[in-house]
Amino acid sequence: MIYFDNAATSGHRPESVISAAAAAMRAGANPGRSGHSLSLACAERVYCVRKILQEFFCAPSAERIIFTKNCTEALNIAILGMLREGDKVVTTVAEHNSVLRPLKFLEGRGVTVRYAPLDKHGNINVKQLARMAEGADAVVITLASNVTGVAPDICAVKHAIPPQTMLICDGAQACGHEKIDFTALGIDALAVAGHKGMLALQGSGALIMSERFNPRPVMFGGTGSESYNLSMPDFYPDRLEAGTLNYPAIISLGEGALWLKTRLYENRDRLVYLTDLLINGLTDMGVNVYSRTNSYGIVAFDVSKRPSEQIAERLSRDYNICVRAGLHCAPLMHCALGSSGLVRASLSPFNTQGEVQYFLKAMGEIVDGR
Ligand code: ALA
Repeated sequence: MIYFDNAATSGHRPESVISAAAAAMRAGANPGRSGHSLSLACAERVYCVRKILQEFFCAPSAERIIFTKNCTEALNIAILGMLREGDKVVTTVAEHNSVLRPLKFLEGRGVTVRYAPLDKHGNINVKQLARMAEGADAVVITLASNVTGVAPDICAVKHAIPPQTMLICDGAQACGHEKIDFTALGIDALAVAGHKGMLALQGSGALIMSERFNPRPVMFGGTGSESYNLSMPDFYPDRLEAGTLNYPAIISLGEGALWLKTRLYENRDRLVYLTDLLINGLTDMGVNVYSRTNSYGIVAFDVSKRPSEQIAERLSRDYNICVRAGLHCAPLMHCALGSSGLVRASLSPFNTQGEVQYFLKAMGEIVDGR
């Protein structure tokens, strides 16, 4: 099987990630809940993962890293926790439903939402976004589109928006693929998916916050701290972490970050090379490609407007190749591209040049009607 659906979830995980998660399942207590030695050891390991992520993303503090079950949950905490009736927010048409849906919910509660368009090259129009962001309370923006892999210059975005505007970033497709220096980029909230580029288990994720980003809790429950208090504690991370943590997933996220630490640039070069090969091969056979060479491994295309599901089904049935078709939960991006669904091949650094060549051979046969 050739797995080219890594933007949905990583098809390959390093052995160190798998064995660390398995060990955590064999000997794991509830971190932060009991006073016995195993619980304390687990709490210490969870704290170590916060420190690993703090270093990996150049975050201001370990305490302001909240563990979540995925990137969607992190975005919901940031968006629903920060924005209030009367607030103005600017987002983009390139966003995933994990941004669009909480914002749509808030629109019904007095929050004004504006959508920055794409420019004629399919990039997020940063100049227009900056104009819309005047007087905005927050900008919510993806670091890389899950449809095409297009990535805004986030440094330019930060400089173009008012200093007091909160910058909330969806890192679902970017984390683990590119170096993200949270502090240098001036990000206020970064939502991290654990199970994609970070190569950890499904069920892992994080929200990283700046010192000035203080969302209201959107989930309430036990924290193992201040149990007499009927409100959530005021201090982080407890304020935003209600309920038992997913200990094996958190351990796997730490291992994923450690594995990537020394390989990030090598992996990036590999994905740039492989996506370039894929895009050139598809273009040469007359396929409409919507992506440019990128380090996120994403290549979206259609074949003479044939239904994307039909192509994906052919690839799966006749060639044992896994890709994702359709709207990829990003409906406005497809409207902006004039598409009613695309085939998306998404690669990881574990994929090979041989697999790309086999994929191109298969696509050549499909395009030729064989
Ligand atoms: N958001 C994931 C994707 O783009 C699941 O496929």
